[in-house]
Formats: sequence, structure tokens, C-alpha cells
Amino acid sequence: MKSKILVTGGTGYIGSHTVVELQNAGFEVVIVDDLSNSEAEVVDNIEKISGIRPIFECFNLVDREKTFEFFKKHNDLKAIIHFAANKAVGESVEKPLMYYQNNLISLMNMIEAMRTYGVENLVFSSSCTVYGQPDKLPVTEATPRKDAESPYGNTKRISEDIIKDSVAAYQGINAIALRYFNPIGAHPTAIIGELPRGVPANLVPFITQTAAGLRQELKVFGDDYNTPDGSCIRDYINVVDLAKAHVVAIDRLLERKYESRYEFFNIGTGNGVSVLEIIKTFIDVTGVEFNYKIVDRRAGDVEQIYADTAKANNVLGWKAEKTLAETLQSAWDWEKKVRGIE
Ligand code: UD1
Repeated sequence: MKSKILVTGGTGYIGSHTVVELQNAGFEVVIVDDLSNSEAEVVDNIEKISGIRPIFECFNLVDREKTFEFFKKHNDLKAIIHFAANKAVGESVEKPLMYYQNNLISLMNMIEAMRTYGVENLVFSSSCTVYGQPDKLPVTEATPRKDAESPYGNTKRISEDIIKDSVAAYQGINAIALRYFNPIGAHPTAIIGELPRGVPANLVPFITQTAAGLRQELKVFGDDYNTPDGSCIRDYINVVDLAKAHVVAIDRLLERKYESRYEFFNIGTGNGVSVLEIIKTFIDVTGVEFNYKIVDRRAGDVEQIYADTAKANNVLGWKAEKTLAETLQSAWDWEKKVRGIE
């Protein structure tokens, strides 16, 4: 058994896929999650895939006392992957304080506990949202960050700064921030996947729910952007590929292969794909038609963003492998499984 890794938010969408990949790579995993946006059964489902049941502790890292108790109990952690955070852009505009409290206080509590209990390595779940609408595409890591478009985005930016400053001040802490582009898809077994509560805010869950008959039609937010087909362009990254990037980042930290004690990488495919292309690919690959209509632009959407992946490929040594078609098929297989569709 390799080192013991804490995965906060480990029952969530990206967290659960990462736990499975860590276990596949031989790591022992402890999950902390307050189940505010995920289900306890995910722990069972992780075990179904990997054959190993991760340790699971249910609490919110905003609770400083519980956080310290946890670190005291698990005093052999070698690294942390920190996913636990609120992530809905629209909700963050309505409830900014909830976002700042939950996303920032938990991170600060955790870093303090890392110092107290000598945990040296941190991988942070960041986002391409820190780039805003970049002036030049694709975005490299040298692209300057912009003012955030939402409180959610601002928590990612501030979190990166908290980590960078902490690494500079505290010799014992090393960190890697992964700036994800748009994670989509599900595990090929269809045993874990994305399970949004209520009406999905994100494109692919909305598509799969519409295809499954739960929603009447998909609204395409704008076809008058300055892009080839007028709809917005994103870099959609398969969630299992993304999960594997975390394993590579953990190895890099544990084996001290990093070039500097705080590093950050874009995690995407490098391909810009439009909303209309996603719809077309989904219908082509699954053979399932669904209704969609063009409506007004959504406030706060950037026109286009996709990654320059050279640093992730060459320095981190990670590359996206899955095709968009297989990724969309996996999202559909998962939706069918959840809804009991044959
Ligand atoms: C945004 C953030 C990302 C964050 C994510 C969390 C950026 C660049 N990205 O992703 O960091 O983690 O929110 O929620 O800020 N769309 C429709 N109809 C829908 C839903 C979406 O047309 O019903 C379109 C959107 O206009 C967008 C694309 O689909 O062009 C992707 O949208 P979505 O899945 O919500 O992700 P982002 O907004 O790109």
C-alpha cells in the first residue's frame, strides 16, 4: 500500500472519480465530505469499482475543531487533494458570503491543520474561470488572470493566492493547483458520474436529462457570439482523464519532482468545442434526439476559452486521452443507469 491521501469532497463528481484512480494507483484514500451536494452511496459505488472501501468521514472543513480532530486522528496523511467547495456560478452571485465562507475558511483551516500536523503536500481544485475571457487563445499558464466574473470564480482566484502565499511562508508546504476546463462524462462502468441536485446548470447534465425525458428542451445560450457557429466555445475534458491528472500531481509532490514548490497547470484537451458541436456529437454518437432552442445569451458567460496544454503535457507529464464522442457516450450511459433506462 502506497501513501495515505486525504480527498476532500471525495464523494462529489470529480472527487469520486479521483478516489477511484488513486486507489487504482495503490494509494490509500480517506474521504472527507459533508454530503451537502453528494450522496453517501457514492462510497459504496467507489468500492464497487475499485474493490476497496475508502475511509469516509462526514463533516464540513469550515468547522475548525472537527478539522483539527480529524488531522489528529489521521496523523499519517502524506498529501491532500482539496475539492470540497461550492461550485455553482449563479448561486454564488445570490449568496456571495456563503461562497466566501465555505470555500475560503475550509481551505485556511486545512492549511493550518497541515502545518500543525506536518502534512506537506496539497493539490488544489482550481478552474479556468481564473482567466476570465482571455485576450489570446489558447490560454497558457502565463496568461494573466483576470478579475473574476462571479464570487465563485473569485474564491478560486483567492484560494490560489492563499496557497501561493502559504507555500512562500511555510517551508513545509508544497502545492499544485490544477486549473480545470470543463469536466464532463462519467466512469466507463457507469457506477459513478455527475449527479446534480435540481435543475442542472451545466451543459452536459442538462443535455442528458433532456435526452432522458426529464427536461422538455435544452436552451442554447446565444448563437450570436463571434465564433464559427455563433455558440460559445469551451474545452471539455473527460472526468476520468481529469482524475488521472490528480494522481500524476500527487506523484510529482510525493517524489519531489516539482520545479517550484507552488505550481499550476491547465487541465484540458486543447480543443475548443462549441455548444452546437456538443449537441451534434451527442446525437450522432448516442442516436438519441432531443429538443433544443436558441435563446438569449446567459449573463456572465465568456465567449470562448480553451487550454494550451503544453505545460501539462511536457512538465506535468499528463495528457487527455479520451475522445469527445466516448466521453459524451459515457455521460449518456450514466444518465440511463441513474434513470433506469434500457
Ligand atoms: C463555468 C466556469 C467553470 C465552473 C463551472 C461550474 C468559466 C469559463 N467556466 O463553466 O469554471 O467550474 O461554470 O458550474 O467560467 N450552456 C447552454 N445551455 C445550458 C447550459 C450551458 O447553452 O443549459 C452553454 C453555456 O452558455 C456555455 C457552455 O454551455 O457556453 C458550458 O456551460 P457550463 O456547462 O455551465 O459551464 P461553464 O459556464 O463554461
